[in-house]
Amino acid sequence: MSGLLPKVELHLHLEGAAPPGFIRGLAAEKKVDIARIFDERGNYAYDDFWHFLKVYEAATEPLKTPEDYHRLTLAVLEESAAAGVIYSETFLSPDFCGGRDLSAWREFLHAIREAADLAERRDGIVLRGIVTPIRHLGPEKAKEVALCAAETAGDWVVGFGLAGDEKSGKPKDFSWAFDAAREAGLRLTAHAGEWGGPESVRDALRDLRVERIGHGVRAIEDLALVDELAERGIVLEVCPGSNIALGLYQDWRSHPIHELRERGVKVTVSTDDPPFFHTTMAREYDRLATAFDWDEGVFDEIAKTSAKAAFCDEKTRENILKKLEKAHA
Ligand code: HPA
Ligand code: ZN
Repeated sequence: MSGLLPKVELHLHLEGAAPPGFIRGLAAEKKVDIARIFDERGNYAYDDFWHFLKVYEAATEPLKTPEDYHRLTLAVLEESAAAGVIYSETFLSPDFCGGRDLSAWREFLHAIREAADLAERRDGIVLRGIVTPIRHLGPEKAKEVALCAAETAGDWVVGFGLAGDEKSGKPKDFSWAFDAAREAGLRLTAHAGEWGGPESVRDALRDLRVERIGHGVRAIEDLALVDELAERGIVLEVCPGSNIALGLYQDWRSHPIHELRERGVKVTVSTDDPPFFHTTMAREYDRLATAFDWDEGVFDEIAKTSAKAAFCDEKTRENILKKLEKAHA
């Protein structure tokens, strides 16, 4: 499947997309010793999801200033554009960007947006932000993150999410943060149904009133829930390569994305933390095409589903859809 098919990515953690060479270089510049997080070939090394979260947080250590995030954003968007991504939404955490201090957060955000503007002019790729508290840091910190999100909500910060350890607390612990984000006009998504079972998806829908679910693949264990997702048009941000790399499914053919789609669920495809999972959007497409015999028509439909589910304004959405139409004309 062509790496050049235009792609729309809805689920990407900015720091998790950092090329390992970039983080190693930055660590050397800043004299931060994080050699332990790399294997002998220079890739990120971790044992399981919970260790991955620790390695992820260690990888953010050399990212200290807005300028560092400017460089990070440029490096990430260069990789995404090379894989054919034309529009991307990225998770941003005020926890990492200024420690939830609003004025520091504004500076980090400004630097990220400037880099995104440069990348748009350079590569044509469009980026928008989803502010995301880290679940295992707890609901009180999530409230501070929600206030940062609410203060900067607009045409660029378009969404609010929930990442981190899905086994830490319950979605309802984060209702206050999600209510504040919703009141500020932000669109909502949350990680669920990856490490939690189908009930975690039900909880996120009921208690956080999200319109998209990050992963959500374990809904397949409850077919009544699958029907509900299909009927309500809930969009799943599916990251198959991430699920396989983290051992949730044995191999590509065992992944439920195909069955979810067959059962009428709106599935989309993303990379999550591409270098951690040795993937790119082009590789996801290739693997899916091989595993499920998906042709260009399926990928066209998935890209359009993603564009329609994007949290951006209507004019931006129309532009993405036009680019998709052109590619498949
Ligand atoms: N899942 C959950 N939390 C995360 C991830 C992820 O893939 N990456 C960074 N935080
Ligand atoms: Zn994720």
